[in-house]
Amino acid sequence: MSKQRQDGAKQEQLDAYRVHDEGRKLTTNQGLKVSEDEFSLKAGVRGPTIMEDFHFREKMTHFDHERIPERVVHARGYAAHGVFEVYESMEPYTKADFLKEKGKKTPVFVRFSTVAGSKGSGELARDVRGFATKFYTQEGNYDLVGNNIPVFFIQDAIKFPDFIHAVKPEPHNGIPQAASAHDTFWDFVAHNQETAHMVMWQMSDRAIPRSFRMMEGFGVHTFRFVNDKGEATFVKFHWKPTLGVHSTVWDEAQKINGKNPDFHRQDLYEAIENGDFPEFELGVQLIAEEDADSFDYDILDPTKLWPEEEVPVKKIGKMTLNRNVDNVFAETEQVAFHPGHVVPGIDFTNDPLLQGRLFSYTDTQLIRLGGPNFHELPINRPVCPFHNNQRDGYGRHTINVGQVSYHKNGLAHNTPEPASPEQGGYEHYQEKVDGRKIRARSESFNDHFSQAVLFWNSMSEAEKQHIIDAFSFELGKVKNEDVQQQVVNMFANVSLDMVQEIAENIGVTAPKEGGSPITKTSPALSQENTVKT
Ligand code: HEM
Repeated sequence: MSKQRQDGAKQEQLDAYRVHDEGRKLTTNQGLKVSEDEFSLKAGVRGPTIMEDFHFREKMTHFDHERIPERVVHARGYAAHGVFEVYESMEPYTKADFLKEKGKKTPVFVRFSTVAGSKGSGELARDVRGFATKFYTQEGNYDLVGNNIPVFFIQDAIKFPDFIHAVKPEPHNGIPQAASAHDTFWDFVAHNQETAHMVMWQMSDRAIPRSFRMMEGFGVHTFRFVNDKGEATFVKFHWKPTLGVHSTVWDEAQKINGKNPDFHRQDLYEAIENGDFPEFELGVQLIAEEDADSFDYDILDPTKLWPEEEVPVKKIGKMTLNRNVDNVFAETEQVAFHPGHVVPGIDFTNDPLLQGRLFSYTDTQLIRLGGPNFHELPINRPVCPFHNNQRDGYGRHTINVGQVSYHKNGLAHNTPEPASPEQGGYEHYQEKVDGRKIRARSESFNDHFSQAVLFWNSMSEAEKQHIIDAFSFELGKVKNEDVQQQVVNMFANVSLDMVQEIAENIGVTAPKEGGSPITKTSPALSQENTVKT
């Protein structure tokens, strides 16, 4: 079917880079027409290939360099283009231009992913799904780099490399691909009990979605909206699929994974090709600055959600995915998302997980995408102009004209100047910060189980059984019995009924009491590195 062209500015920009090869003569990269592409140049028809064969050398060299590193996490992903349309102006809360006007449309690009598996892994793995959206706004790219689960495993970014090392295949034997079926994952969980809430979600049906089109998305962190008057409001972002949330059951997931490891990408691709465009409504939860301390959890703790009965989700717009990519490598693989790509009116908070993410993404993309110019790749280019004094580096495309490439100069009078906030210059929210330099966790981040219990209690009987089955399957694969026992003891803090059944299923001792003391082996919970604020 004919591809939709509803995403305007970005599509026009991408069109300039699209190349149709049909009907053309084969050439080298230098534009030289090639007369023969099947046989290398030889000294005699049965002789050796000769150095002079520039066509062979160029073709083979390019092939030898076709692969780039896969993403260190979220390697397996699939993406589509679309458009976001505002239902309700957010002007009272944010000066973000793309959210200001009812009916305003912004082109978007969305990449869905699994977290732990490698680029070729099966898509029905029990895992968190990434849900990353790039809004190509007139004020620059805004990236909402979220997941399909509203909380995270850890509270501080410094633990992320440890967590991912525990989740990826074990280094001595490269087994297993499955994130949650091995000793190191569960050992990490037992020793980092802040994981409890997220692990409950991961053992639930949410971790084996039916389709990318039927998943929620969450920004996870608390961000800030800032309006024209400089007033801030805490905000959490949600994507709600108009098809509703649907999952597979584990038996189905395993069979599908075996028979068609591309199931999710094929589902998304075919739906879009058939004109069944996936739709997601953007929701926000808002908390006024002055109410920040009135909850029985810390609103900056990324292992906590804001219960929707307590802080309702206001739907403010809809995203429609209406066009498949033309080229998976050029677009899906080369796209570079970053939670630090913000626009005026959207700002950060001191969530210590978010703060660390702000470093990690550009850093990894510098190596993944080969140097500092990946913002020039078609999929990453903003639709608004961009000008600064950054120059050179591998793969530079832009030809900057002029003698001067530095700010504050007397030789040229038209070099780029910073913009005032009135002219759209980004101004950071002037939050007052005052504290001692210290490596610690705030005491307000110490409750690891209340929301895990809330989650368990909100499940139907069938969903509870699925969680018990998932724990039994995944934890049952663990070889170290101490690890199994520690995990069972830990989750007695969530539900005694739940762990008693799991313990029986996997053959470890069933805890007799719920709310058992925090496992002693959790140094992160010791008094020394917990600080009252
Ligand atoms: C991808 C780091 C937490 C969502 C990545 C990548 C890195 C990374 C290095 C690969 C990026 C690339 O190669 O382009 C981190 C760190 C975290 C963290 C250090 C915590 C400290 C999170 C959280 C979320 C998240 C909490 C969800 C809210 C994603 C998504 C992608 C991603 C969706 C894939 C983006 C794409 O499709 O290209 N992360 N991450 N990450 N991360 Fe995180």
